[in-house]
This record gives sequence, C-alpha cells and structure tokens, in this order.
Amino acid sequence: MYPVVVVHGGAGHVPKERAELATAGVCAAVRAGYAVLQGGGSSMDAVVEAVTQMENNPSFNAGCGSVLNIKGEVEMDAIVMDGKTLGSGSVSCVRDIANPVQLARLVMDKTSHVCLTAEGANQFARSMGVPEVPMESLITEYARMRWRKNLAPDANPVECQMGKMGTVGAVAVDSEGNVACATSTGGMLNKMEGRVGDTPLIGSGGYADNQTGAVSTTGHGEAIMKVTLARLILFHMGQGQTAEAASDLGLAYMKSRVGGQGGVVTVDPQGHWAARFSSQQMCWAAAQRDILHHGLNSGEHLTQSIVPP
Ligand code: GLY
Repeated sequence: MYPVVVVHGGAGHVPKERAELATAGVCAAVRAGYAVLQGGGSSMDAVVEAVTQMENNPSFNAGCGSVLNIKGEVEMDAIVMDGKTLGSGSVSCVRDIANPVQLARLVMDKTSHVCLTAEGANQFARSMGVPEVPMESLITEYARMRWRKNLAPDANPVECQMGKMGTVGAVAVDSEGNVACATSTGGMLNKMEGRVGDTPLIGSGGYADNQTGAVSTTGHGEAIMKVTLARLILFHMGQGQTAEAASDLGLAYMKSRVGGQGGVVTVDPQGHWAARFSSQQMCWAAAQRDILHHGLNSGEHLTQSIVPP
C-alpha cells in the first residue's frame, strides 16, 4: 500500500485565463499534503493541510476567493472526516475566518458535536482563539465582478449553480491505511443568505470510512445532497466496485436522477484512487510514490516527478 493524497479545485468550467493558476494551485496543494504524509503525518493532517492551501489561494471558491451570496457577503461551509473513528466535524455559513477547514477539524476534535452553524460556529471559533479576519480580505475583485454580473435579471442559472470554479477538497490514505477527507467552499454564487450546501453535510460533501474509502465531492450542492453522493460512492465500493467505477456510478446516478453535475476525488484503504467528474471540467491532482498526477479536462492525465531533478 502506497500513501496517497488526491485533491480537487472544483467541478464546473475553468475559464482559459484561469486554468494555469488553478492547475498550479491544485499541484501546490497536493504537494503540501503529500509532504505531511512523508513527514509521518496522518491522512487527516494531510487533507487539512491540502485544503488549507487552497483556501488561502484566491483562485478557488473557498476561504479567500469564495463566491458571494446575494447580499455580496461571504458565508463558507467545510467538513472533515476521519475514516478510522468515523469522527467528523463541519461548519456551515461561517463568516470572517480564513480557514473554515481548520475550524471544522476543531469541531471534530474539541466538541461532542458534528456540525456548528452561522454565529454559533463563529462563537466557537472565538472560544478556540481562531482569529477573525475582515470579510473584505476574503473577497477578490473577480468574485465581486461575478456577483454583480449575476445580479442581472437575465443571469444564467447554470452559472449560478455551478459557478466557474467550485468547491475544493482532498482525500488521503496514510501509511497505516487510515483514510480521511476534507472539503471547503464558499458555496453557490449569489445564494440566499443562510443557504447550507452539501459540503458540511456528512455523506454529501464528504465521507471517510476505513472499511471502504474516502470521498470529497464538488458540484451542484442541491443535487449532491439529494443523492448523498459521497456515501453513495462508498456504498458501491462496499459492494466491490473500484474507486473509479464507484465514482462514475455515483455521478451517473446523480445526473440521471436529479440532473446534477459534479466531480469527486476518491480513495480506498489500499491506496487506489480516482478523480472523476460529470461536469465540463475539474481541476485535480494526486501524489503517490513521488509522482504527481494532474488534469483538468476529461481524459487528461499528466504526470511529473515530485522530487526535484
Ligand atoms: N458544492 C458546493 C455547494 O453547492 O455549496
């Protein structure tokens, strides 16, 4: 079994001028997560590190770079799950913090609850000494431009649902065969205030169980919730499907049953992995055996060495 980290930077359509930045972002994130595993860290440490990197990268819809809600404000969702214990933590509609994924981990580690929301999540953050940041510091010019554009009465509803770039997430297997997942998002462009997406919902935005594997999802949250996509994929793996086949089955079911598009990264406890999507594109990267794999378009699979020459 070879430890592995797989990340996604969101399902949807990546505008040409942003493709290079998004690719560089997922590759940097997967390298950071892989370095954690190489240093003896757990799969949970690795996925939190990888997702933190993408939250700090303004190219992605999570942390700094989050899409704005209808009022032009940032409300973020995140989840983590540990496949060894089935421990999970999540936050929804949280504001003014840089790294919701780290707060989700604190919910898992420091409370008896699974999900904290809105002001309660922010109060918990304060009690844990998590610094508040000005909302403006999470808002990019690009996010504000898209918010304005999509306020127009003739705005394309598909654009509002999928966004140009979605959620970020990661799955990993460590040297002990423990799996973990983490997912983080600013949600859906121009969403209603208080809207909770799939990301913080256990079984939808992510799921991890050492008996089957781990999944992090991205795409149209309302569709993902209706089919509990992460858990559905792991159900198929429990029935003997490979990570790749199970991911495709889950995505196909979501498309046929509720018309939703999305993408996933998936691992099994033996270190087999998949990055699959039914959307136009999904920026992804994986690191295993010192090889970095990445892609953006359907069927694209590029590789390079992680070890500098
Ligand atoms: N999948 C992210 C969201 O819909 O919020």
